[in-house]
Amino acid sequence: MENSRLRPTSSWINIIFIFLIIRGTSSITVTEVLLVSAHQYVIQGDPALLACRYIAEQTEVVTEVEWEKDGVLVYLWTLDNPPEAKDVLEGKADLTVTTPSQLQITEVDMAMQGKYTCRVRTNGKTAQNEMFLMVIVDACKEDAWKTNTDMVNCIETVNMHCIGIFPKPSPACGVYSEKTGKYLNSVPFDSVNKLLNGTFEVSFNRRFVIQDWINNTDISFRCYMMYLGTPWRSGIQHKMFGDAGCTDKPPIVLNGFYNMTVEFKSCWGFPSEGSKVEYSCKEGFTVEVYVCTGGKWTPEGSTISDEDYLKTICGDINFGLMIGYECPWGVEVMVYLALFLTMYLTYDTLTI
Ligand SMILES: *[C@@H]1O[C@H](CO)[C@@H](O)[C@H](O)[C@H]1NC(C)=O
Ligand SMILES: *[C@@H]1O[C@H](CO)[C@@H](O)[C@H](O)[C@H]1NC(C)=O
Ligand SMILES: *[C@@H]1O[C@H](CO)[C@@H](O)[C@H](O)[C@H]1NC(C)=O
Repeated sequence: MENSRLRPTSSWINIIFIFLIIRGTSSITVTEVLLVSAHQYVIQGDPALLACRYIAEQTEVVTEVEWEKDGVLVYLWTLDNPPEAKDVLEGKADLTVTTPSQLQITEVDMAMQGKYTCRVRTNGKTAQNEMFLMVIVDACKEDAWKTNTDMVNCIETVNMHCIGIFPKPSPACGVYSEKTGKYLNSVPFDSVNKLLNGTFEVSFNRRFVIQDWINNTDISFRCYMMYLGTPWRSGIQHKMFGDAGCTDKPPIVLNGFYNMTVEFKSCWGFPSEGSKVEYSCKEGFTVEVYVCTGGKWTPEGSTISDEDYLKTICGDINFGLMIGYECPWGVEVMVYLALFLTMYLTYDTLTI
């Protein structure tokens, strides 16, 4: 009885509450001002579309949309007249766009970077919101970089000189381990100077010697100019000191010996690509030549496969599978797998 009497009262409260909410949001609201793009920035020279998203009541008429950049009027849309572009946007906006919520910039330049306010006026009310437009002057192309590898003395030099980049870039530079996917160190730019026209001159000169990187055979130098908070980056990846060569010893021979022909050594002292290992086998065993290819010892004239590491060099086909490997402490251990297996199986059968 008590409950049924309460119900109509709470319905009335709800209706009054909803009515208050509608009244509260009934006037113009600018929900968002944004750059219509996949990125949060524009490259100088590209066009840009800015959008001012607003919600107006059905009875409201939008009479004026003002765009300010850092407090200065740059674009004005009015109900009765064609749009006007001023200041940094003069001659740089598409005035044929009649949609009040859109500002189409035909060619962005660095002076247009800044805080944009969109103010929407209706009959009697105004509302506004803002955004920051980031403009990047991508002045440092590939030719700003120069790399040189001295393979005789194992010295790497990297030089970069770039004029006219904007805004001031942050460096992400260092020696990078391809294997671990991590930077092994971090190096700053040598100088960053602001030029008269507001752009920046960045320079970078580095010299690397193999002695400092003797324990890392998989390194590249990566250096990027970047802007924090954006995915934009410009720079280089450069493989350091050439190929490491064959870092592992050649496959071990069981019934013979090998003779290694090393014409060149890599900067790390390993046999370089193309080095050969000639196996001389005891009479009645197969003879093979392995070549250092892509950092691995590979049977000459064939491509590498996992099987090659199981195949016995100078193996006796009648004897079965033998695997030879070297223990970390330098002792060569031969596992006569087939022999062991045969003995084990024979023993097993005999006991049954
Ligand atoms: C700024 O000045 C530098 C050097 O004076 C010039 O190379 C660069 O093109 C200029 N950049 C802009 C955007 O005006
Ligand atoms: C290379 O590793 C050895 C052994 O871990 C160490 O003694 C040496 O300092 C390392 N060299 C460099 C340049 O890091
Ligand atoms: C190993 O190779 C070198 C150079 O080709 C050659 O002089 C030497 O006789 C070879 N040794 C054997 C045992 O084949």
